[in-house]
Amino acid sequence: MKIEEKTIDESIQGEATMVESKTDNGKKLYLESYGCQMNFSDSEIVASILSDNGFSTTRNVDEADVILMNTCSIRENAEQRVRNKLSQHNKRKKLNPGLVIGILGCMAERLKKDLLEQEKLVDLVAGPDAYRDLPALIEEVESGQKAVNVLLSREETYADISPVRLGKGGVTAFISIMRGCDNMCSFCVVPFTRGRERSRDPESIVAEAQDLFDKGYREVTLLGQNVDSYRWNISKKGEIQNPDKPVVTFAMLMEMVAKVNPKLRVRFSTSHPKDMTDDVLKVMAKYNNICKYIHLPIQSGNTEILKKMNRGYTTEWYMDRIKAIRTIVPEAFISTDIITGFCGETEEQHQDTLKLMEEVGYEFSYMFFYSERPKTLAERKFEDDIPLETKKRRLNEVQELQFKMSAEANKKTVGKVYEVLIEGVSKRSDEELFGRNSQNLTIIFPKDNYKPGEYVNVLVEDCTSATAIGTVVKD
Ligand code: 5AD
Ligand code: SF4
Repeated sequence: MKIEEKTIDESIQGEATMVESKTDNGKKLYLESYGCQMNFSDSEIVASILSDNGFSTTRNVDEADVILMNTCSIRENAEQRVRNKLSQHNKRKKLNPGLVIGILGCMAERLKKDLLEQEKLVDLVAGPDAYRDLPALIEEVESGQKAVNVLLSREETYADISPVRLGKGGVTAFISIMRGCDNMCSFCVVPFTRGRERSRDPESIVAEAQDLFDKGYREVTLLGQNVDSYRWNISKKGEIQNPDKPVVTFAMLMEMVAKVNPKLRVRFSTSHPKDMTDDVLKVMAKYNNICKYIHLPIQSGNTEILKKMNRGYTTEWYMDRIKAIRTIVPEAFISTDIITGFCGETEEQHQDTLKLMEEVGYEFSYMFFYSERPKTLAERKFEDDIPLETKKRRLNEVQELQFKMSAEANKKTVGKVYEVLIEGVSKRSDEELFGRNSQNLTIIFPKDNYKPGEYVNVLVEDCTSATAIGTVVKD
């Protein structure tokens, strides 16, 4: 059985969104998001900024005055998808010559003016730290110029902007707690496209969580490229910046958000094995409403490859972190990210990845074959020498193993009762609802009179490799 290549992210690909503006300027915006959860969260900031400036959004591209695509550069195929879509949007200019087409996010930052000048696919380019400038950039295009702002910032966290929630359902929401990444994994383009790491004011994060709870939301996911290196009022070297103010680490922040309300679930993504502390795990164990699920990307099960990837840990270190999770939060489900066919990866090194996967027994994985990205350390230092067929064959092996392990893990849930937060109507049938348990497993059950946002206890009776199926048990 083959599992489709998919990121956390790609589940929300190309979603168009709709918002009413506060002071209508008569212009309609079509906003499309690709890529990671962070991009989706950024689109909510973009929607907020533009709605404050009179734009209302539409899900009908044909009535748009402005089309903005929030894009991803993580792998080549992600960029190719966006280019195809941009060509389609450009055809609309024949019918509507005043149409403004803009590109946001990582591709905008990576390609800068190229998309305007060489490829001639867009009128406007705005990088991830330039969204406050969007109203001015759109005006510039309307006055007949091309507009670009790809300045990266060391401070911008959009902390004061109240995101317009674009997700469906009104039950779960993302909260960005930091931006950028300082890790420089050798395969990764993110440090170049999202700039230096910076943390957001914890007070604004807690206030956002409280506001979401008051509006009926019941789950927040704290987002960052590396949440374990969240820090407020303390430098990387450990120097306190303002002695009158408290220092806040990720463990402390998570506790602050968990205390907002016991009925508000807290999730987080993404943890980094080199930085994940026992303190974080202890806070997870202490609060019922912090979900027992950790996404801990390994990337490769071989220390030599990890070194070439500049990940900052060995497989022994990683396994020690797994042991800590199993000891402190024994009921947690663990997922990972894996890249197959990285530069110079031998067959033995690939086997090491399969062995490590089995040793951990991941409940879930996001799996990719290596895609060389321009300007990254790997592109400059190593040869992308593994043939595509080999990369794909190894990916297939990793996927097959994961598929088997996921099916086994889900089978173990049969006969158990889990608390499920209801998120909406199941895709399978209007008569069924779906939600997730604390461990992030999707569970489907008959609708009765239950509603999204409610918690129910569900007895799991059956499962597939991706979901569990059950019935609600009444107390
Ligand atoms: N090629 C393949 N996969 C990549 N990822 C990041 N960069 C690349 C690349 N160049 C994967 C990593 C990361 C996830 C978000 O995407 O596994 O954890
Ligand atoms: Fe990329 Fe590594 Fe930063 Fe993740 S931690 S965004 S893989 S550089």
